[in-house]
Amino acid sequence: MEKLRIKEFDTVQFTKMVRKIKLFSSMRMDLLEKILAWVGLHGYKKGEKICRQGDIGDAFFVVYEGKVSVSVRKLGLFTKQIALLGPGDCFGEMALLRRAPRTATVTCEEDTRVFVLLSDNFNAALEGNADFAEEMRRLAAERGFTV
Ligand code: CMP
Repeated sequence: MEKLRIKEFDTVQFTKMVRKIKLFSSMRMDLLEKILAWVGLHGYKKGEKICRQGDIGDAFFVVYEGKVSVSVRKLGLFTKQIALLGPGDCFGEMALLRRAPRTATVTCEEDTRVFVLLSDNFNAALEGNADFAEEMRRLAAERGFTV
């Protein structure tokens, strides 16, 4: 993993991307500006793992460029791919919201850049966002979990 420098163009792209994520769509501009100050940009090579099932979650991610696969280990025996995520898709919210270990492993299918929001900032960003709880339940249900 490589920490990358964020340029102004990237922050514009981030704003456009997160507006499409329901979680962020109703967020006020001043809050979004705060998030922009917190967000980081990481680069991963094809085959690198961004997070591992069972790990403690410390960040939330939005795919900027590239493709990642989400897989789960069943009964410790075999691994099953459950989703492919690309630009604008987010992941890593489950562990932060449920304060539980990562539910899946996320592996880069190609060289990938992701926006990263550390858990404290993620939680701060969502505080006081009235639509958040409902939206989270919807996203969790869609992904097969209950929060
Ligand atoms: P988290 O458990 O923090 O880390 C692994 C992430 O994989 C998880 O959050 C979700 O963001 C993502 N994830 C888990 N299950 C699915 C699914 N069925 N579809 C898409 N993404 C998922």
